Amino acid sequence: MKPSILVARAVFPEVLSQLAQHFEVTSNQDDVLWTPAQLIQQLQGKQGAFTTGSERISQAVLAACPDLKICANMAVGFNNFELDAMTAAGVLATNTPDVLTETTADFGFALMMATARRMAESEHFLRAGLWNRWRYDMFAGSEVHGSTLGILGMGRIGQAIAKRGAHGFGMKVIYHNRSRLDAPTEAACGAAYVSKSELLQQADHLILVLPYSPEAHHTIGAAELAQMKPTATLVNIARGGIVDDAALAAALNHGIIAAAGLDVFEGEPKVHPDLLTVPNVVLTPHIASATMSTRLAMAQLAANNLIGYLVHGKPLTPLNPQAVKA
Ligand code: GLV
Repeated sequence: MKPSILVARAVFPEVLSQLAQHFEVTSNQDDVLWTPAQLIQQLQGKQGAFTTGSERISQAVLAACPDLKICANMAVGFNNFELDAMTAAGVLATNTPDVLTETTADFGFALMMATARRMAESEHFLRAGLWNRWRYDMFAGSEVHGSTLGILGMGRIGQAIAKRGAHGFGMKVIYHNRSRLDAPTEAACGAAYVSKSELLQQADHLILVLPYSPEAHHTIGAAELAQMKPTATLVNIARGGIVDDAALAAALNHGIIAAAGLDVFEGEPKVHPDLLTVPNVVLTPHIASATMSTRLAMAQLAANNLIGYLVHGKPLTPLNPQAVKA
């Protein structure tokens, strides 16, 4: 008998077809947003789950779904997983590293440029019919080429952004990370390691790319924003909650920093109301990895993790291999 799996959100039809060759598939192609209780109900009798960052796999879900053996997240981030509880319950967790690195780095760089050069703000002005003349300082933004790019979180995506800045735009690149990169990797990225305070104080553009964890909550709050240059831009493509969004909106309103580009939000898809009214922000709905080819690659990797583990006993990108007893 084929194992049973749940595909918890809408996904590419070709990926569903691939999964159907190996599994009894229950899918959610209507993309209904289930409550935790509905998710538990849908997971009954399922050995595998294809999830996205929106489905929380908590201790309560695990306790209520004893047949579950693997949750394959179609995301590189996995803060929707209670990983220790999954390991304790013997449930394997997988994510989708590598396949989205360059696409996400492109977006982080684009969001930084759009923010620094005030693209959203000036577009709104034009659409509102307010453009009636050229002016020497109209929507004058801050320089990107030759400026100092700061990166907080220097994993795969941070490194790919650093290379774009250092080698493509002649930027001085500085970074801070829990652990310093080795010298050859730093050289390849054209990036220099600095303390968090130095990063905040020296960056003209600061891009956040660190993973979310409870310890990373409000890594950037009022105190950190106060250390930044008043001309600086802040870009968050990491996770909501890494920035204190209320403090950021206040900082933007009071000229503590110049502008922000945000793809992720605390409590998304809700957005702090003050961020919706400040003019000097570029806001996007969590789309940094959203090109069709990258999203397909992510979905295929999640599917191949399910097939790899439930059919062949070998997942491709496990996060907690220790969950599986030898
Ligand atoms: C997107 O946010 C991801 O983690 O893949």
